[in-house]
Amino acid sequence: MSFYERQVLPRLLNRVCGATGVEPLRRRACADLTGQVVEIGFGSGHNVPFYPAGVTEVSAVEPAELSWRLAARRLATARVPVRRSGLDGQSLPFADDSHDAALSTWTLCTIPDVAAALREVRRVLRPGGTLHFLEHGLAPDEEVRRWQRRLDPLERRLVGGCTFTRPIVDLVTAAGFTIRQLEVFYQEGSPRFSGAASLGVAVSG
Ligand SMILES: C[S@@+](CC[C@H](N)C(=O)[O-])C[C@H]1O[C@@H](n2cnc3c(N)ncnc32)[C@H](O)[C@@H]1O
Repeated sequence: MSFYERQVLPRLLNRVCGATGVEPLRRRACADLTGQVVEIGFGSGHNVPFYPAGVTEVSAVEPAELSWRLAARRLATARVPVRRSGLDGQSLPFADDSHDAALSTWTLCTIPDVAAALREVRRVLRPGGTLHFLEHGLAPDEEVRRWQRRLDPLERRLVGGCTFTRPIVDLVTAAGFTIRQLEVFYQEGSPRFSGAASLGVAVSG
């Protein structure tokens, strides 16, 4: 990892992801999480205040050391135990069927092999377990998609490999999940190219 990726990007993401405007969306993404939960791309823990009472423990998966350290304040007030348990969503160090639910917020855009990560999430979820996702991705409108394709190279360079053009729902279903709830919308306060959001729950069969 470069100096920028180790020292600058985690601070930048902590700021951007900490925007209070997205808190209602985080609350909705976390609603009904239950039991043993794996959160991929834990970042600096901005979902921690929204874990519901039914969560018994969270396995946090996050490669960036500094992001984990920036989570300290939120972790200190967490109502459920959160353990940093892995570094890479593409290869989860958990047994098959070991988790009841999974959470991914603004992370599937960045993991290099997103199909591998979704396969791993499915492997570690028990049958009937749920993936709760809140992600930006490929916009529904062609005009916005054109901008997303234009801006993707810059986004990738500046934001650690993040891309605007992943078809999130298609990726989730291709991994073998069944969509149970879904809302696709443009996030208020964001440009459309970065705010094309999918908020949903998918069930592992
Ligand atoms: C835009 S941030 C979102 C952080 C957090 N999920 C949130 O909502 O605030 C994307 C996160 O994905 C993490 N990430 C990147 N590659 C990853 C990988 N291979 N496995 C798991 N997480 C990864 C980054 O370190 C970063 O913390």
